[in-house]
Amino acid sequence: MADISIDRVSKVFTTARKRTVALNETSLAIATDEIVCVVGPSGCGKTTLLNLVAGFLEPTAGTISVGSREVAGPGADRAVVFQADAVFPWLSVAENVAYGMRMQGLGRAERAARAERYLELVGLADFRSAYPKELSGGMRKRVDLARAYASGPEVLLLDEPFGALDLFTKEAMWLALQGVVRAEPKTIVFVTHDIEEALFLGDRVVVMTPRPARVHSVVDVPFGTGRDLELRAGPEFQALRNEIAHTLREVHDDAA
Ligand SMILES: Nc1ncnc2c1ncn2[C@@H]1O[C@H](COP(=O)(O)OP(=O)(O)O)[C@@H](O)[C@H]1O
Ligand SMILES: [Mg+2]
Repeated sequence: MADISIDRVSKVFTTARKRTVALNETSLAIATDEIVCVVGPSGCGKTTLLNLVAGFLEPTAGTISVGSREVAGPGADRAVVFQADAVFPWLSVAENVAYGMRMQGLGRAERAARAERYLELVGLADFRSAYPKELSGGMRKRVDLARAYASGPEVLLLDEPFGALDLFTKEAMWLALQGVVRAEPKTIVFVTHDIEEALFLGDRVVVMTPRPARVHSVVDVPFGTGRDLELRAGPEFQALRNEIAHTLREVHDDAA
């Protein structure tokens, strides 16, 4: 279990042709087992922020801590799920899920048992022997999720993981993710440009400013655990959705 502390983090990309300030003294604190969804204009720096927490990038200034440790590179305490599937086509579903555990040196029996547990949690137990090409896009995303969980992280970082899925598949993935998280809570940072997705999944929704990304505002989501899809039709959900859409439109207009 671990919280995340992002403390006055800046990230400047310098190439031969230009200098891009992606983050400028961005701060954000995420509690243990909290789900924070991050929305913001495209190109504002959301992926950069996630990659910094993942340890794929190094901050230009500031510090990021996960639990009591300062992030100094990628680590087994953090698992990442991207929009693109991260499945190996030559491995079965169960082998894909067990892959990270093999890298961690777990024994065969424990790998198999843990893979099975997470395949059940994401609703893929019947497909354990299938190969990725036999699976739909949603199913491959379930493999990704099971793989991320099976590696035993404290923190899950998701960057528009369901961005390429159609609406109904996406809704099914929301419920699948919610189910896994209920069974095994994690500290989660979920980047999305889908406001409904953010409100449906998040404990808080963080709205970023245009680049350089800073936290513009934070919305507390009051819906508790065990949310169902009908929630979206309710007045409270609609009001929050409109409020966030309004904020995003405002920051967009300011930048334009
Ligand atoms: N490796 C990189 N080198 C140079 N510029 C980058 C790099 N990665 C991202 N950027 C720039 O940083 C800004 C933020 O990008 P990104 O974090 O991907 O935004 P978002 O995920 O919010 O759409 C963009 O202007 C992008 O072009
Ligand atoms: Mg991005």
